[in-house]
Amino acid sequence: KTEIIYMKNSFHGRSTGALAVTGQPKYQKPFEPLMKNVTECNFNDVKDLKAKVSEKTAAIILEPIQGESGLESATPEFMEAIKKLSEKYNTLVIFDEIQCGMGRTGKLFAYENFDLVPDIVTIAKSLGGGVPIGACLTKGKANDVLVPGDHGSTYGGNPLVCAVANAVLHELIDNKLIEKNVVEKGQYSVEKLEKLKGKFDFIEEIRGKGLLLGIKFDEKKVLAKDVVLKALENGLLLVGAGNNVVRFFPPFNVTNDEIDKAVSILEKVFEKISF
Ligand SMILES: Cc1ncc(COP(=O)(O)O)c(C=O)c1O
Repeated sequence: KTEIIYMKNSFHGRSTGALAVTGQPKYQKPFEPLMKNVTECNFNDVKDLKAKVSEKTAAIILEPIQGESGLESATPEFMEAIKKLSEKYNTLVIFDEIQCGMGRTGKLFAYENFDLVPDIVTIAKSLGGGVPIGACLTKGKANDVLVPGDHGSTYGGNPLVCAVANAVLHELIDNKLIEKNVVEKGQYSVEKLEKLKGKFDFIEEIRGKGLLLGIKFDEKKVLAKDVVLKALENGLLLVGAGNNVVRFFPPFNVTNDEIDKAVSILEKVFEKISF
């Protein structure tokens, strides 16, 4: 099996391997030529997936919730099709949970929101709570693909960041930070953001799960980059996702007061930006 199927509008990083399966030409172009034997599939398009997965498919890689391109979640039908096709063709399923994993959706792993356990999961960001660490988890038939010594990097597995990641996991799992804070503060944030949606007609949707939230705008009226810029001028650091979504990703230990403050800055920004 030689082929990897990846999703349109995905983002997996900027090393050449990750770029080859990143479905956004603007990131790929400067680094071409990239790895071959990769095929793009339209995200959430079951028909397209069925047409592309075959005996040749070694792996299907996706973000269960696409981060960079606007917090688009895989549909249950699409996940079901991935599950069935991967069983039929003995294909590995890889979830990139670098952005949506490690508690961000209100569950430790984002795949827990779906009826599918992937063979490989990549994790990073929230695993380190601010320090740089990434990891690749495997199960079952993926366990033997990489064995100790196959892969390494200068700082890979260094004791300093591993100690921090252990401390983060202790907070997330043993001290129940996910249940206590991510879920609760996620709901609180959605309540507040929904009020803004009621007030400003250019807000189309509040989307996401847990503290992986996004505000989607009518892009004919408001662009994400303008909101990000104005919010920054007012002391609130946000990040866009695509043209028309602004990500609302507070840290997991955020308080209600801090959410109130962020939402009131957003309100001020929206009052000025609307026309
Ligand atoms: C889903 C996803 N995958 C991969 C990456 C890239 O991670 P890294 O910069 O650690 O290679 C990111 C970074 O934003 C991401 O959001």
